[in-house]
Amino acid sequence: MTDNNIYPIFDRMLSREDKEELLGQHSVMIWFTGLSGSGKSTIAIALERELHKRGLLCRILDGDNIRSGINNNLGFTEADRVENIRRIAEVSKLFIDSGIITIAAFISPNNDIREMAANIIGQEDFYEVYVSTPLTECERRDVKGLYAKARRGEIKNFTGISAPFEAPLHPALTLDTSKLSLEESVNQLLDLILPKIQIKK
Ligand code: ADX
Repeated sequence: MTDNNIYPIFDRMLSREDKEELLGQHSVMIWFTGLSGSGKSTIAIALERELHKRGLLCRILDGDNIRSGINNNLGFTEADRVENIRRIAEVSKLFIDSGIITIAAFISPNNDIREMAANIIGQEDFYEVYVSTPLTECERRDVKGLYAKARRGEIKNFTGISAPFEAPLHPALTLDTSKLSLEESVNQLLDLILPKIQIKK
């Protein structure tokens, strides 16, 4: 495609398969979705450690490294959330094309947004994991004190309080951290993911 005078050089670059062979792994996208405080980042971090121990290279993308950097000009309107997730998906694709197992932990509050991410990344590489911890439990934990602020009206458009969250229709896995220990959640993820990422020798 040569629209806008952009000439892709992908055909001259080393391929994803070359990178995967170098790393000895297949890359996939593990996409966590769920309310603020549901446990997405905690599970993502624990999963990364377990995969790393097994010699597998991962990259976590979450609010801390994305909303404070590449997306520091975005807020929480519907349009900004779409743009947040669009950029995250495009960045994730670069990691996946480099053979890296990529783990994203964002609210990504509706099916359209997650569908967009899956289409950018490629449906076949996309594993949607719903961290289904109920709102009452997320609010009870209120790790960042944001639910209290949202209830007082100090934060607008807060997911679960004054903005919607739509549960995924067909997640690859559902984890409720009010019922499962961290270890149990990670073990379920390892059972799902390890067969997909290990290269048969
Ligand atoms: S998303 O909806 O665009 O996917 P994202 O995961 O990047 O959201 O950011 C969510 C985090 O931003 C929350 O965990 C919380 O710490 C913070 N936050 C600040 N304002 C809001 C808000 N209005 N709604 C949800 N989360 C918010």
